[in-house]
Amino acid sequence: MFHLRDVTRQFGKKTAVSSVTFDIPPGQMVGIIGRSGAGKSTLLRMINRLVDPSSGEIEFSGVKVSSLKGAALRNWQRDCAMIFQQFNLVPRLDVLTNVLLGRLNHRSTISSVLNMFSREERIMAVGALERLGIEQTALQLAGTLSGGQQQRVAIARALMQQPKVLLADEPIASLDPLNAKIVMDALRDINERDGITVITNLHTLDTARNYCERIIGMAHGRVVFDGQPKNLTAAAVAEIYGADTAIEESMTSTTINIPAAVPQEQTASASLKPLALAGL
Ligand SMILES: Nc1ncnc2c1ncn2[C@@H]1O[C@H](COP(=O)(O)OP(=O)(O)O)[C@@H](O)[C@H]1O
Ligand SMILES: [Mg+2]
Repeated sequence: MFHLRDVTRQFGKKTAVSSVTFDIPPGQMVGIIGRSGAGKSTLLRMINRLVDPSSGEIEFSGVKVSSLKGAALRNWQRDCAMIFQQFNLVPRLDVLTNVLLGRLNHRSTISSVLNMFSREERIMAVGALERLGIEQTALQLAGTLSGGQQQRVAIARALMQQPKVLLADEPIASLDPLNAKIVMDALRDINERDGITVITNLHTLDTARNYCERIIGMAHGRVVFDGQPKNLTAAAVAEIYGADTAIEESMTSTTINIPAAVPQEQTASASLKPLALAGL
């Protein structure tokens, strides 16, 4: 269970997040929506402590996240995986190694990393890639993959952390509609099958409606809506996005009709056995 109490973040005179209070029960899939600059990223980054709150409290399962330091803070950042709009992979490393980097926080020292990853970890990494349907890319350089594939690698890397919470900051904002659907379906699957709490910032309203059981709307750093998608009325939408803007959901739509045959993203290495490639 998450508790946020009066969480505020200031950057100089600018209040990016203003006195945000809400609870999130375990296993919920939450979408955070709002205009650019509303404070969505800052809020997510405070939850995993990439940014520290100026005031207020964040608590998870009885642990005061907002006061963690040192090893306890690193453990929290392991439990609370994050994916980003720009994927944040290491482009010049292969996909498998990128995924294995998700184990970094499970290790006590950097030197242990230099001793290579264990066989179990490599099997786990291939399993994560298989789950995301991209095991055939295991030995390609991450930077050569399409955006959709890269985001799936980032999700596989997050899974390697065996997180309790998955945070996603506009995970589909750089993707075409088909890849956006694949990535959102993967997040939903992780939420439903693994029971992991997913909190995701989304720039499109219809995606939030389709995938999230709960929507939190932010404007000017504050929460101005918190409820089920069915309660997100036109008036609520106007409050979130500003009454001066006529928001048409289809304008920001990522929904498309997926043709029966999903295009193959396979590469030249598709026929090779990923486990063999991984040296297993
Ligand atoms: N590191 C920073 N330094 C200064 N201002 C920042 C910083 N990060 C965010 N802000 C400001 O805080 C506000 C909220 O930003 P952000 O959380 O990125 O919003 P969103 O993700 O909803 O677009 C914006 O006005 C932004 O310019
Ligand atoms: Mg943002």
